[in-house]
Amino acid sequence: MLFEPTEYILKDGRKLILRPARESDAQEMLAFRIKSIGETDFLLQYPEEMTDYTVEKQLKFIDRMINSENDKMFTAVVDGKIAGTGQISFNTRIKLKHRASIGIALLKEYWGLGIGSAIFTEIIKTAQSRDGVELLELEVIEGNGRAMGLYKKFGFEIVAQKPDAIRLKDGTSLKEITMHKRLQEI
Ligand SMILES: CC(C)(COP(=O)(O)OP(=O)(O)OC[C@H]1O[C@@H](n2cnc3c(N)ncnc32)[C@H](O)[C@@H]1OP(=O)(O)O)[C@@H](O)C(=O)NCCC(=O)NCCS
Repeated sequence: MLFEPTEYILKDGRKLILRPARESDAQEMLAFRIKSIGETDFLLQYPEEMTDYTVEKQLKFIDRMINSENDKMFTAVVDGKIAGTGQISFNTRIKLKHRASIGIALLKEYWGLGIGSAIFTEIIKTAQSRDGVELLELEVIEGNGRAMGLYKKFGFEIVAQKPDAIRLKDGTSLKEITMHKRLQEI
């Protein structure tokens, strides 16, 4: 989905731009994705699982995000660099179209500056302006206090927990937690 860029001022005074991804972002966005998954255990891949993920595949993904009526991806840009992305995807099936799912990831150097809050503000506005959407949903891995802090700030609550859903390389077993927000409660 294409949209007009929006601007926010971050906690450190810098300007944040939230804009659609562009084809010219492909190389940088690929580097962002590989780096971001290496900086936390709370995303679903390890960097070595990205070896076959090429610039061409990233380009196709960007094209899908731009052209899809059911996905809106916000690219967070600070000082001309990609700091992260956040995405909302709308279901289209009759039985599911009251639900939308959300994902977000930022590079570590940009955590805690308010980018997550800015993206969530825009995601919730987007969902509110789409007919029939009632539930916003996301998954978060046990122990991700920063993400859960962001989600609780925006009114999400825990609705399910799946034990042993995530197994880290060192054998640590973690729950996957489903959180949701009912839009009527805003
Ligand atoms: C999780 C993530 C998206 C949060 O974004 P962020 O820009 O760092 O979040 P913000 O700075 O907007 O903070 C949002 C709120 O979270 C809460 N918060 C921030 N840091 C926190 C912490 N360490 N522990 C608990 N809550 C915290 C606060 O309520 C904060 O709001 P406030 O600044 O108004 O008090 C980001 O840190 C990230 O990309 N992490 C790695 C990838 C990831 O975990 N993605 C989510 C997968 S489910």
